Amino acid sequence: MFPLNTWYVAAMPNEIDDKPLGRRVCGQRLVLFRGPGGKATALEDWCPHRGAPLSLGRVVEGNLVCGYHGLAMGCDGKTVSMPGQRVRGFPPVRAFPAVERHGFVWVWPGDAALADEAKIPDLFWAHDPEWAYGGGLYHIGCDYRLMIDNLMDLTHETYVHSTSIGQPEIDETPCKTTTEGDSAVTSRFMNDIPAPPFWRTALRANGLPEDQPVDRWQICRFTPPSQVMIEVGVALAGHGGYEAPKEKKAYAIVVDFLTPETETSMWYFWGMARNFRADDKALTAQIREGQGKIFAEDLEMLERQQKNLLAWPERELLKLNIDTGGVQARKILDRLIAAERATVAA
Ligand code: FES
Ligand SMILES: [Fe+2]
Repeated sequence: MFPLNTWYVAAMPNEIDDKPLGRRVCGQRLVLFRGPGGKATALEDWCPHRGAPLSLGRVVEGNLVCGYHGLAMGCDGKTVSMPGQRVRGFPPVRAFPAVERHGFVWVWPGDAALADEAKIPDLFWAHDPEWAYGGGLYHIGCDYRLMIDNLMDLTHETYVHSTSIGQPEIDETPCKTTTEGDSAVTSRFMNDIPAPPFWRTALRANGLPEDQPVDRWQICRFTPPSQVMIEVGVALAGHGGYEAPKEKKAYAIVVDFLTPETETSMWYFWGMARNFRADDKALTAQIREGQGKIFAEDLEMLERQQKNLLAWPERELLKLNIDTGGVQARKILDRLIAAERATVAA
């Protein structure tokens, strides 16, 4: 259950720099590669000759040459040439709209006629020298909506991430969920608490004392189809919390693009954009490593949860107050999917 007429992050640009990449997105088997001028391109991963995956081929002068018998495929999905053959009557393969922007490769898996580049989200931090970004990619064997639930309910940090970002005060502080159009926002503000280990490191890196009480915030924003941006940070207590001046806080945005692979598996593009010590590449690497470890802690829980849900499909799940963010996000998705299906049926 995912909308198709929308942009998804399909790859990180460096994944297609040297060779084509085979990747399933929303059930579609794609090959991603760089066409003429290095332009990000997405086609069905199917060679019209004998059905070999084009992703096993290589790029020659902007065409994708099949690794089996040398058919050369153009970036529009039409065969350009094949040794010893006339290719005029070869059936085309489907081409998907693809755009490289903000440090990601975006693909539109639905109706190409509806693809609008203006709908790619605007990631301001990707272009602002005051901000630095580091991130990675995980494959997870779960419905992408389980990850939306996970990111919209950070009480799990207390249990899953107890040695890094978890602390009991998260559980003890109620969260508030609101919807704004097609967005759902869950926020939690915790005042005058000790900083957990991850944030102690961040405070130290930002030249602030790590052993003083802090005000901490988490503002999780879901935007369809499957993007969750989480404003996170700590400020020395009593300086305004979220609103505290820059020199009193360490502040970042946790970046999550959740791209469905199938109904029960997904690609997790995770990262963090921060606006302190943006030039410090060693700090970017250190934060990425720490964050990678934290997100790896979610993997087993989510994959085993998915297995349980498949084993007991008839069981109802509880919807507690902590689940409101995920519930609202699913409502937004259900509405968009229903509208998309109604258009197709009409
Ligand atoms: S299968 Fe691709 S050229 Fe034969
Ligand atoms: Fe987590």
